[in-house]
Amino acid sequence: MARGPGLAPPPLLALLVLAAVSGYAVAQYNCTCPTNKMTVCSQDGPGGRCQCRALGSGVVVDCSKLTSKCLLLKARMSIPKSGRRLVRPNEHAILDNDGLYDPECDHEGRFKARQCNQTSVCWCVNSVGVRRTDKGDQSLRCDEVVRTHHILIDMRHRATDRAFNHSDLDTELRRLFRERYQLHPRFLTAVHYEEPTIQIELWQNASQKVPGDVDIADAAYYFERDIKGESLFAGPGGLDMQVRGEPLHVEQTLIYYLDEKPPQFSMKRLTAGLIAVIVVVVVALVAGLVVLVITNRRKSGKYKKVEIKELGELRNEPSL
Ligand SMILES: *[C@@H]1O[C@H](CO)[C@@H](O)[C@H](O)[C@H]1NC(C)=O
Ligand SMILES: *[C@@H]1O[C@H](CO)[C@@H](O)[C@H](O)[C@H]1NC(C)=O
Ligand SMILES: *[C@@H]1O[C@H](CO)[C@@H](O)[C@H](O)[C@H]1NC(C)=O
Ligand SMILES: *[C@@H]1O[C@H](CO)[C@@H](O)[C@H](O)[C@H]1NC(C)=O
Repeated sequence: MARGPGLAPPPLLALLVLAAVSGYAVAQYNCTCPTNKMTVCSQDGPGGRCQCRALGSGVVVDCSKLTSKCLLLKARMSIPKSGRRLVRPNEHAILDNDGLYDPECDHEGRFKARQCNQTSVCWCVNSVGVRRTDKGDQSLRCDEVVRTHHILIDMRHRATDRAFNHSDLDTELRRLFRERYQLHPRFLTAVHYEEPTIQIELWQNASQKVPGDVDIADAAYYFERDIKGESLFAGPGGLDMQVRGEPLHVEQTLIYYLDEKPPQFSMKRLTAGLIAVIVVVVVALVAGLVVLVITNRRKSGKYKKVEIKELGELRNEPSL
């Protein structure tokens, strides 16, 4: 068969058509979830729209918002161990133990008050999914999800020539939480700075939260994963913090969670003076681990570490 003049040879033509078609598809239906890469998306939503389901649970997520921490943890646990190791290859992988367990989420994607693992060991959690009671068997009752209403993020930044300007740093971190994590500015109550320590305080009482507000638990979790270099957002490029063009590298982070009610651990030293359990997620450069710290909240508002317990236990216990 004679080809018409000027026509590209078939293979090239096919390539061009393919490129045009797929280019069109990408432009028209880039079906991904910008706020949660741990999803599977397809065009099977209402009216052929893009719909994304969280890995692990299959729950349809709203990709214009942050996904709840419970669904994110569940998705993370659904990825085979080898896959998780791919994400974070290092010899300390065994320390990667930041409160990981396969959680049960309610219809809103929130943590259920009682969590159990496959061996019927159960415990009660707070709204960030952190254990706040002793472990029991399946007869253990958890009446409610106790709200974590105060989160303190304590970070150290890498040495710089000069200290950051506090007001610029404050502005930058508030912008980050507002824009990247969609947190209403009134819930970021303070940014403290004393080189090289930066503290961010998030406060959100149940009564202050209106439907549609991002929960501080979710904002803090997205931030934690960003800091660890495991961004949950789809697309290239993780968190790139800068203060007036000066890069801000975080080297170590502790995240303290304070609940509305005191925790219920039957520890010898848990006395009347102790009103809060603080669970600290140590975000080292390569690995995270959970440290349980019982604290005594003084009038000064300072947090005093009274006891660091269970570190050894938690280190080799993937269930928290
Ligand atoms: C498609 O891409 C555009 C621009 O890249 C982005 O704004 C939009 O959120 C994307 N849509 C989905 C469903 O990912
Ligand atoms: C369940 O928890 C118990 C006690 O913490 C632990 O020994 C066991 O390994 C856990 N099982 C699973 C499957 O996580
Ligand atoms: C920090 O920056 C602000 C403007 O962003 C400026 O007004 C202030 O004087 C600076 N503070 C110091 C100590 O340089
Ligand atoms: C939130 O609750 C705490 C403790 O109950 C209280 O001290 C604080 O004033 C409350 N904040 C607001 C804005 O209601």
